[in-house]
Amino acid sequence: MQIGTTLTQFLADEQRRAGVITDDLRILLGEVFTACKVISNAINQGALAGVMGNLDSENVQGETQKQLDVITNEIFIEACERSGQLAGMASEEMEDVYRIPDNFVRGRYLLVFDPLDGSSNVNVNISVGTIFSVLHHDGDASHPAVSDFLQPGTRQVAAGYALYGSSTMLVLTTGQGVNGFTLDRNIGEFVLTHPGMTIPADTKEFAINASNQRFWEAPVQRYVAECVAGKTGPRGRDFNMRWVASMVAEVHRILVRGGVFMYPKDTKDPTKAGKLRLMYEANPMSFIVEQAGGMSSTGRQRILDIQPEGLHQRVPVILGSKNEVELVVSYHQGH
Ligand code: AHG
Ligand code: MN
Ligand code: MN
Repeated sequence: MQIGTTLTQFLADEQRRAGVITDDLRILLGEVFTACKVISNAINQGALAGVMGNLDSENVQGETQKQLDVITNEIFIEACERSGQLAGMASEEMEDVYRIPDNFVRGRYLLVFDPLDGSSNVNVNISVGTIFSVLHHDGDASHPAVSDFLQPGTRQVAAGYALYGSSTMLVLTTGQGVNGFTLDRNIGEFVLTHPGMTIPADTKEFAINASNQRFWEAPVQRYVAECVAGKTGPRGRDFNMRWVASMVAEVHRILVRGGVFMYPKDTKDPTKAGKLRLMYEANPMSFIVEQAGGMSSTGRQRILDIQPEGLHQRVPVILGSKNEVELVVSYHQGH
């Protein structure tokens, strides 16, 4: 029986081949993958574990936390704080930077994560995920401050997501393309199943929460109206629409068969620039999408070029197949 290429083996090969991965990064990523396997098991248990409910607490975004939001956050911390490679961590579920306890060795990397993405789907048995981003810590050996985390997405060392779907997958980039791995539960390893993932430049599929249509700006109104008009409209072809409400699942679909995903700027809440968070949703996903030949923009700016101003900053997101994202961006010019 053939084992295939495990993720551990793949990273060792990449380190030898391209030289961009260090021993330290490999150790850190190994702990991240362990966290994702533990989360996969927790989610797989479903209602059997009795943890599918809401908590009374809210996270820093003012969203009601689910039991699994908190549990998955704790799994990540426990798996990664002992790696010896981290200076600090930040997550959707923690208002402030997480300090590595002083009894553990600290390292040169920062880890930012959304431990459970699409959590509104968790108790209806629809795909959810985990998103992570690794940055360098340029500072000294002291505990990092928020300002140390506020690096543009172009400075990410690695980014990836785990998708807890009909199978569990891990998709990773270290800036040398994008590769996808499927969890083989019999051996407890992620095995390379989707080498060199690329996003087709053209697509006939778009994803947006249409219930927000009345709040969209004119460029997005125009783009969606033209898609919906289909064969008899200006695009001259029929489009298909999908909305899972788990960004990880949407991005994964786009990596496999193309498409455009939009959570654009809207007027629903003027205090929010968008719904999705820059540091642990938009940036890692944009790194992956660009590495797969796609494009990612706010409509007005490349997401990876944004200088972050806060850990939990929100941004508009338009990403996916290059030609379609370029079209949406062109509709924003002059608006
Ligand atoms: P999270 O569960 O981490 O808060 O993220 C949910 C995000 C994203 O995954 C998804 O694309 C979007 O919110 C769904 O938003 P709607 O509820 O407006 O559909
Ligand atoms: Mn999320
Ligand atoms: Mn989340």
